[in-house]
Amino acid sequence: MILFSFVPFIWAVSAKADFFQFDSISNASTYYFNYIYCNVWDGECQPNQEDATQQVPSRDLWAGFPQEYVNVVHQWYCSLGQCCDTGDCRITNNMTGLARDLQMKLHGQHLVQSVVLKAIQGFINNPESNKPLTLSFHGWSGTGKNFVARIVADNLYREGVKSECVRLFITPFHFPHARLVDTYKGQLREAIRDMVLRCPQTLFIFDEAEKLHPGLIDAIKPYLDHYDNVDGVSYRRAVFLFLSNIGGATINDVALDFWHSGQNREDIGMEDLEHRLRAETVDSQGGFSQSELMSGHLIDFFVPFLPLEYRHVKLCARDAFASRGLEPEDATLDEVAKAMLYVPKEERLFSAQGCKSIPQRINFFLP
Ligand SMILES: *[C@@H]1O[C@H](CO)[C@@H](O)[C@H](O)[C@H]1NC(C)=O
Ligand SMILES: *[C@@H]1O[C@H](CO)[C@@H](O)[C@H](O)[C@H]1NC(C)=O
Repeated sequence: MILFSFVPFIWAVSAKADFFQFDSISNASTYYFNYIYCNVWDGECQPNQEDATQQVPSRDLWAGFPQEYVNVVHQWYCSLGQCCDTGDCRITNNMTGLARDLQMKLHGQHLVQSVVLKAIQGFINNPESNKPLTLSFHGWSGTGKNFVARIVADNLYREGVKSECVRLFITPFHFPHARLVDTYKGQLREAIRDMVLRCPQTLFIFDEAEKLHPGLIDAIKPYLDHYDNVDGVSYRRAVFLFLSNIGGATINDVALDFWHSGQNREDIGMEDLEHRLRAETVDSQGGFSQSELMSGHLIDFFVPFLPLEYRHVKLCARDAFASRGLEPEDATLDEVAKAMLYVPKEERLFSAQGCKSIPQRINFFLP
């Protein structure tokens, strides 16, 4: 019983501490992480350096437990009336909410809307699937990759990205030094294993995945594959999201070609993109086919984020105002959208920064 009385405590305190689990991080990278985390991943928090240095030794405590313990603890939880439809109150799996958020909050991404919804729905409705779900988000910065990852987390977990069943890795923060790749490998494997032991359904997000060292991709390969278990632990109920700009230039070219030929952006199909990406020259540095991630069939779904146009930026601005309870005139939205830089030089069609920093930019237009 001593074990059990500790459990709620550990679950409570580790939710926040999970983000800051790796030891020996320099002040600079701690600050970097806080900054990214607060600005990109959590609209509410303030970058706070002290927060990031808190360490809670939850990882080691759990790593030693066999998976059966999780079931025992879980049953005990249910006996206290802490159970939900999903079998675990931390997990919400709200497909209506996911469909709605993708439809209402995401702009200019018809492919993302359909692929992400289908993939996640298929995963949730098929608990017997023999493989974790891996999605790879591709596109320029500001096109909504982080935003969609957050929407997924928000609808699958009660606490969203802050859930103890969700783990966010930001490559330049968590794995900054190539020479330490062997240390990172161990930490990463342990972190994944620990999470899977603690939660019946987990979500792992790798931001800036184009910077992941090939050695680290090798280290996580076994978890993404069709194994019933790795060292006695089953990874089948895990979702892996990789966010990168790999192939972003090609996605933009396809969108530009459609525009030049007078076709609708909404008529761009997956086949148009897959064809072009495959044709991308093999020996181009940092090319799509060169990426460790895309070779070896680790990825179930390739999710292309199209570059955003003026009208999409306006919609982002409208949402940003609405989130502050404001309904500005169309002219104000135009002003916000006009302040962005549009490329390529001749066409000036796509926002170079997508919808990035729109919530901060509207500060200048507040009454
Ligand atoms: C981090 O900052 C604190 C105070 O701000 C300082 O005392 C400490 O030496 C710094 N650590 C490193 C590794 O730079
Ligand atoms: C699912 O999401 C929808 C839309 O956001 C919301 O209205 C509904 O209450 C959610 N359902 C549950 C069970 O949380």
